[in-house]
Amino acid sequence: MTQTEPTAGGKPNPQTKGRPVGSGSDEDMGDMRNALLIGIDLGTSRTSIASINGVRKTVESYVGWAKDPVSRKHLGRDIIFGKAALDNRLSVDLYRPLEHGVIKHTGDGDEKNDEYNKNLEAAQELVRHIVHMTEPGRDDVLYGVVGVPAQATKRNKQAILEICQGVLDSVMIVSEPFAVAYGMERTSDVLVIDIGAGTTDLVRMHGTMPGDDDQVSFNIAGDAIDRKLLELIKKNHPEAQITITMCKRIKEQYGFVSSAQDRIMVTLPVDGKPTEHDLTKEVKEACEIIVQPILDGIHKLVSSFDPEFQEKLRNNIILAGGGGTLDGLNKRIEDGLDRVGGGSVTVVDEPMYAGANGSLQLAADMPAEYWQQLK
Ligand SMILES: Nc1ncnc2c1ncn2[C@@H]1O[C@H](COP(=O)(O)OP(=O)(O)OP(=O)(O)O)[C@@H](O)[C@H]1O
Ligand SMILES: [Mg+2]
Repeated sequence: MTQTEPTAGGKPNPQTKGRPVGSGSDEDMGDMRNALLIGIDLGTSRTSIASINGVRKTVESYVGWAKDPVSRKHLGRDIIFGKAALDNRLSVDLYRPLEHGVIKHTGDGDEKNDEYNKNLEAAQELVRHIVHMTEPGRDDVLYGVVGVPAQATKRNKQAILEICQGVLDSVMIVSEPFAVAYGMERTSDVLVIDIGAGTTDLVRMHGTMPGDDDQVSFNIAGDAIDRKLLELIKKNHPEAQITITMCKRIKEQYGFVSSAQDRIMVTLPVDGKPTEHDLTKEVKEACEIIVQPILDGIHKLVSSFDPEFQEKLRNNIILAGGGGTLDGLNKRIEDGLDRVGGGSVTVVDEPMYAGANGSLQLAADMPAEYWQQLK
């Protein structure tokens, strides 16, 4: 990687790295002979990267700094990432730098506090780490397209852009569901629903870059289900010892929103003793909280669309993001749509990499003027 300033308007020459599809002639390719194109999905719970050289990596969005010399010796380094950071949370200062898909900050407009700055630094280290995992060559010029939640504000996007500029040579910020649609080459009459940890983002595509009216975003997503599950287990099984991380794992293993389901029996400690609990009711109730907001979001985007294309949109709904894999969710949404004319909902092929793949594709296709801009 070179240490050059980000090149405003510089366009990579993707042909040097085996670009998947192309647009653009040799004249407008500029002089970026060592361009390395990458797509990043910067998520609240998981950050993924896809590079044009074929490398794909994903890491849980945790960053941990060793607390003291003892923990530094124990860990063998100052900073650790992903699951390792989570597993060693007692010996590190642990950060999950994004919340609701944007840099975590406390409340009011004045974001320049210590916690915010530390989260900014953690996010940048996370991006640096995952880019490093793709093993870029020393002379590679890094062109990265980074997907962020659909309704991140201009200021949120600016903060993420600045973080990435410290690591990449040229950056473009895009809305994540748009990246997913683009990667699937489904940019017209399709409605993408990206269910992440912090936010659920719905975007309707009609052949151009989506505008504000084409997007709906809300904070009921994977983390909200985990919090609800924790609340229900604490209420119904006060004797059980449970944490939010355990709830996340239970949801990922057993979560469902269909009607028929085997009993969900989970072993949880009670006073230190492993004890079986029937959590069927709690898991179902927690997972259910996502269904109605999604149906409302679909309704809003479909009903305000050109009437001649509404049916097409309803029949081309795509679920992406980790939450999109929730058992029975596509069928459940289809059932909900029956009341408003029916619809067809499918789950994207690679929920883990759909955002990063789409961002990579955008990196390969976008003309010069889109780089360094906030889209
Ligand atoms: N099998 C599963 N069933 C239900 N939920 C799951 C499953 N696998 C992962 N998840 C949940 O998906 C969420 C993570 O999805 P994803 O990785 O797309 O989020 P993210 O991109 O990090 O978040 P955001 O887009 O909000 O910033 C987490 O809440 C995780 O628990
Ligand atoms: Mg996401």
